[in-house]
Amino acid sequence: MMASVTFQECKLFLISHQPHLKNLHKTISWWSHVETGPPDAILGVTEAYKRDTNPNKINLGVGAYRDDNGKPYVLPSVLKAEEELASQSLDKEYAPISGIPEFCKQSIQLALGDDSIELKHNTNATVQGISGTGSLAVGAKFLKYFYPGVKFIWLPTPSWGNHTPIFKHAGLDVNQYRYYDPNTCGFDFKGAAEDIKKIPEKSIILLHACAHNPTGVDPKPEQWKELSQIIKARNLFPFFDMAYQGFASGDVSKDAFAVRYFLKDGHKIALAQSFAKNMGLYGERVGAFTIMAEDQEEAARVMSQLKILIRPMYSNPPIHGARIVNRILSNSSLKTQWLVEVKGMADRIISMRNKLKENLKKNGSQKNWSHITDQIGMFCFTGLTTSQVERLIKEYSVYLTKDGRISVAGISSKNVDYLAQAIHDVTK
Ligand SMILES: Cc1ncc(COP(=O)(O)O)c(C=O)c1O
Repeated sequence: MMASVTFQECKLFLISHQPHLKNLHKTISWWSHVETGPPDAILGVTEAYKRDTNPNKINLGVGAYRDDNGKPYVLPSVLKAEEELASQSLDKEYAPISGIPEFCKQSIQLALGDDSIELKHNTNATVQGISGTGSLAVGAKFLKYFYPGVKFIWLPTPSWGNHTPIFKHAGLDVNQYRYYDPNTCGFDFKGAAEDIKKIPEKSIILLHACAHNPTGVDPKPEQWKELSQIIKARNLFPFFDMAYQGFASGDVSKDAFAVRYFLKDGHKIALAQSFAKNMGLYGERVGAFTIMAEDQEEAARVMSQLKILIRPMYSNPPIHGARIVNRILSNSSLKTQWLVEVKGMADRIISMRNKLKENLKKNGSQKNWSHITDQIGMFCFTGLTTSQVERLIKEYSVYLTKDGRISVAGISSKNVDYLAQAIHDVTK
């Protein structure tokens, strides 16, 4: 039987047997078969915004906090922690594979609360992750290798755009349950409950702990309680993604309600955390991944396997951001300061939601915009159609993603009236 010959093998053969073809490698590349992939939808919005010369232009695509002058915000508590760290002349040695142990302890304590029974009994296996994305990716890989039997993870519709590729790259199959109701621009509790009741038993279900991205729609505490019951009845494994603790309501405990309630209700969960938004540490890439085990011995076994998975991926995580987080969370005066600052960010977002709704009314809009203030967190699913979004971009230089999602962080007291006018004009 003839073995199949690749293009590259053919090229090498020709070069070695036909000396006059030795320049072939210059004309035919190793990568000529690689096709251009589609650009990232969200980064594309920022690129188009940058090219626009309209002085009134607004970028509502970016997923990072901006102050009321539209500028990136470095938290004063972070600057203070950095100064204190600098004065300690710390070395730059590698962290352990699982990250800085004190950071891991502080991180999971922030999620579960100071009085967590699980933490008292050390039943958590927590590793430092490369922000929320890296923590999700470690979790996905662990589930792929060790989750018994079923290989499906169920995501809400819609979900953060990176969830599907993260889980698919790890080798899990992705399915969806109803979540967002376009008619109310709110939570489709009935649809979600119906769908979750039909998910095959022992599947994995992904839940956004708070400030759901991209919709800004969260279940109410009573709805979380019912979801916990349903998920327990189906024997599903809950994987929480908590990328916005404190950033949604301004209160770190309130935003952790679902995670803490599910544990109290008897679930064993997986949890990915990020400090990108709530500490403004976007580029420092600091987060954590946790598996809650039955007991300390099981947690130790899980931990050993997490380390085996991490080692060939990136060996060990970066130290600077984790040191900052640990410094803030372990020092009571810095922590108090940070809690005020994170509330300040959440409050500015909430006040911009109120102002946008008010100004839409002032501009004469008769539409019901209550979802703008009912939704929470960085993002608002406005309900604008694709053609309305196109008009906003073309006629008003207001940039947002095609699905009508706006980053409320991009709104300021200076541009909110212009934005309201523009939205009113395209929706009236
Ligand atoms: C739902 C959700 N999960 C995870 C992340 C991870 O972000 P990062 O990797 O920057 O921490 C984000 C960021 O936008 C998010 O919205």
